[in-house]
Amino acid sequence: MSQIKVTLLFLAVLNTVLGYKGNSPGFYMHDIPTYFVNDDIYNLVSSTQLTPDYGLLNSSNLLGKATRTLNADILQPDIVGYQKIPYSDENVSFKEGLIMIKESCQALGVVATKYVNWAKGSPKVNNSQPGYRCEYPIFTYAEKDLHHYSEDVVTSFLIQVELCAKESTYTTNFFFVSSKPGRLLSKPLNEGCAYSLFAPIKRLPFPENMEG
Ligand SMILES: *[C@@H]1O[C@H](CO)[C@@H](O)[C@H](O)[C@H]1NC(C)=O
Ligand SMILES: *[C@@H]1O[C@H](CO)[C@@H](O)[C@H](O)[C@H]1NC(C)=O
Ligand SMILES: *[C@@H]1O[C@H](CO)[C@@H](O)[C@H](O)[C@H]1NC(C)=O
Repeated sequence: MSQIKVTLLFLAVLNTVLGYKGNSPGFYMHDIPTYFVNDDIYNLVSSTQLTPDYGLLNSSNLLGKATRTLNADILQPDIVGYQKIPYSDENVSFKEGLIMIKESCQALGVVATKYVNWAKGSPKVNNSQPGYRCEYPIFTYAEKDLHHYSEDVVTSFLIQVELCAKESTYTTNFFFVSSKPGRLLSKPLNEGCAYSLFAPIKRLPFPENMEG
């Protein structure tokens, strides 16, 4: 089995064990088509359908795998979410305000961290269930003012997700990339591969701390 299939199987088993329902409250169904217009990865898997689980392979699902593979949460603990950003030759037509926020859920002492969709202004996500406690640093640290995190596009530790359709399966690769302030990166051109780019959203210090 390919690495991605093993990972997805593992996640499916873990989710069943933990009783996770797999939905992201606060993410409205009617937003999905708008968002997918610009998800090259989802478009590539939809048009090739090489594996039975192709429907799970979209940019936001792969972002979680990317952060784990790159140890992004350990390297940059102040990151509370990610925002999909366009390459220089792309139009920004995906749902504005849709971000992927960090979720850490704990059951039986095991913590599982991933990123879930959340549209700004929509109800807060809470996937907690009895015996399964989830925390969202973006809400914890911005309880009083949800705008209390950086809206600027960060230019380092951007995450680039690559998915390639090769023969009968998909391979994924994840990279940290940097851009120059005010300049978008150009999309890599590789036959049979699709790309997504994510910019981290960082926690800002509380105003009290900044004054002191
Ligand atoms: C990606 O797929 C999952 C299902 O596996 C779905 O819940 C999620 O909404 C999809 N991502 C986007 C951006 O729609
Ligand atoms: C972006 O949108 C503009 C205006 O709608 C259009 O003229 C242009 O061709 C689009 N560019 C791409 C790369 O889709
Ligand atoms: C999330 O949901 C759980 C269980 O329904 C509840 O106990 C908890 O207080 C909620 N957390 C927040 C921040 O609303």
